[in-house]
Order: sequence, then structure tokens, then C-alpha cells
Amino acid sequence: MEQTKTATRDYPSFSDTPWGLWETLYARRSHRKYLPGEIDAPLVKQLRETARLAVAVRGSAEESLIVVDDAALVTRIKQRLHKGMQGKINLWLNRSPLRGFLVLALPREDVRSERPQMLPLASVAAEDVVLWLTEAGMGTCWLGGINQREIREALGLGKDMFVPAVIPFGRPKAQVKARDMDHMMYRRISRKRKPLVEIAYLESVDRHYAEPQLARGSFAASSTQDIGGLLQQLKEKRESSGDTPLDLAVDACFEAARIAPSAGNAQKWHFVAVSEGDALGKLAQACGVENAWRTAIVGAGDVEMGFLYEKMEKPFWMIDLPIAFSQMSLMAASMDLAVDLGLRGIDEKAVNALTGLRPPLRAVGVMGIR
Ligand SMILES: Cc1cc2nc3c(=O)[nH]c(=O)nc-3n(C[C@H](O)[C@H](O)[C@H](O)COP(=O)(O)O)c2cc1C
Repeated sequence: MEQTKTATRDYPSFSDTPWGLWETLYARRSHRKYLPGEIDAPLVKQLRETARLAVAVRGSAEESLIVVDDAALVTRIKQRLHKGMQGKINLWLNRSPLRGFLVLALPREDVRSERPQMLPLASVAAEDVVLWLTEAGMGTCWLGGINQREIREALGLGKDMFVPAVIPFGRPKAQVKARDMDHMMYRRISRKRKPLVEIAYLESVDRHYAEPQLARGSFAASSTQDIGGLLQQLKEKRESSGDTPLDLAVDACFEAARIAPSAGNAQKWHFVAVSEGDALGKLAQACGVENAWRTAIVGAGDVEMGFLYEKMEKPFWMIDLPIAFSQMSLMAASMDLAVDLGLRGIDEKAVNALTGLRPPLRAVGVMGIR
């Protein structure tokens, strides 16, 4: 089947009210060309506030997501991040007038552990901020092909810290030349996405999802559709609205995950919706939650990313899946659904067993919908 980022269905048409989050999700793309110019002070202030809100909502440490906007420091990071082999794929940065960076900074011990606990939380928060920047008209690009040691040093971070990824941001330049790097990467790699049937399942990975016929009822998306507002909604853990059709919610969350960015656009991810009572109860238990879920989505990553990625010595499955969870949980909030996001301290073995996950697939997290 063809890989395309085009919407699986016309989601906004299912709501009687504007369902604006879709615009942000489909508008986000990796930008590799930027325009010069200063960054407005109010925007930087809002950006810092959003980053603080995102890390608080996702339970990440405040210092795990650093906003760099100082021009001299931005230049230093730009110059240093592609030193050595790792960053060579990102030489294009040299010519880009960036406005700033979001930097993920975590204890080395966590990133290099067998199952990172802090990295996924910081990655969810980072994607929240990426979406906020998209909404603000800024371009972004997740970068994993970086010389992390050089960036760590440029930021004055100790040897006990590790920088698994950075995200440059700036005013995006419209694509002009068919032969430029931005255009080439976009056409060859970035605009592709696997169809839902290849990445989504019901109850277990043995049962592929078939896009259902969704009934059109009187569903109204949340009156909040902006990223800041949705994060606030997640923070307050508001009750779910009773009117949201669950099959539409699951389908919309799958789609939100499907179009998320992943390292090298590898999309080595699988999403299993669990709705059967007994399994749902056990799943909640594996996440340390009193079962109050109506349904849940398990996200799993393939830990065997291939030679190129293994060379980078970063657990990309613990970044890519959390990015998808950011998009899924914001999607749930945009439908007035309350969610519990379990990424840290879950009983992975139990979740793997419940959903039929076998090596090299490993459960990264569970999103329970209340
Ligand atoms: C963890 C991660 C690391 C990435 N590393 C790089 C990178 O080093 N260089 C680059 O040009 N793009 C990088 N990307 C961007 C992906 O190639 C891009 O997200 C993917 O092709 C999908 O395209 P889209 O973001 O335009 O939807 C990375 C993305 C993620 C999520």
C-alpha cells in the first residue's frame, strides 16, 4: 500500500464544531530551511512558559528540556553539533539562520539504561512544544544525528548528562528549488507514512486494525484546540465528556500517532487498542492505575532500528513512541477525553504479554482513556 501523510479520513467533518488540532498536526513537518531575522521577545517568553507547562504536565524534570535562544549560543551549538561522524547528515544546519534550539538533556545513566524512564517523559514534552511552535508559525526539525558531547560541552553540562536529541526552530522558508536539501528530504522520505492497517491493532498485535465505518453522530470536539489550552486541560485532569464516540476516538488517536515524526521516518511503531474488560483491567494494573478506563492504547517500539541507528547509540524507540504519545494524548484532549499516560514505571512484561508483543517489539507506554 502507498505510504502517504494525507489524512486517512476527513476527521474534522465528524465534529459539529471546529476540530482545529488536525490543522496543527498535519501542518507540522520537518523544516531544513529557515529565514533570517530576530525572534520576538514575547514569543520567546511564551515558548519558555509552554516548555515549563509541558514538562510539568508530562512529569519530566524542568531541566530536561532546555530552551536556547541566545544568538551566540545558538551559533556555537550549530557549529559543534555536526563535528565527527554522527552529525554529518546535518551539515545543512550550517547554512540555516536558526532562531533557537530545544535541547533534551538527561542523565546519561537514564538514556543508556536498558529501559530509560526519564527520556520518554522529556520526549513527550518536547513534541508538545514542537506542536506549539508549529501553531506559532515556526518551523522545527527533530535531530538525532548530532554530536551529543559537543552540544553538552557548549551548554556547560556535566559528563553525567547526555543530549539524545535537539530541535532547531526558526521561521520556515517556503520551498523554492526542486533540488534543494529540504525539498529532496521531504519528497524522498518525510512525506511518507505507513497506512493505519500496518501499524494499528485491536486487542493484540495478532489482530490488524481494519479502518471501521464510523457513524456520524452529534459529536462536538472540545472548544479548546490550541496546544497551550490542551496541555492545561491535561494538567487539570478534567473528566471526559460522555458524548465522544470511542471508536472515533481510537481511530483519531491512531491517526495522530501515524503522522507523527520519527527518526529517519522509520515508523518502527505499533499501536494496540485494548477494550475487552478483563485485559483492560490487567493493563491498568500493569500501569498502577485503578481501572477506570473505557479503552486504552498501547504503543510499542522495535528496538532493532538497524545499523545506522545503532551506531548512534541512542534508544530511538524511547523517543519516537513518546512523540506519538504526545500527539495521541493531545488528540484525546481535543475530543474532551481524560487520559492517563503511563510511560514510567509500567510493568513492561505484563503489557507485552497482554498485547502479544514479542522481541524485538517492546511496550513503551499505555494511554488509558477514562
Ligand atoms: C528522534 C528523531 C531524530 C531525527 N533526526 C534527524 C536528523 O538527524 N536529521 C534530519 O534531517 N531529520 C531528522 N529527523 C526528522 C525525520 O527525518 C522526520 O521527522 C521524518 O522524516 C518525518 O518527516 P516530517 O517530520 O516532515 O513529518 C528526526 C526525527 C526524529 C523524531
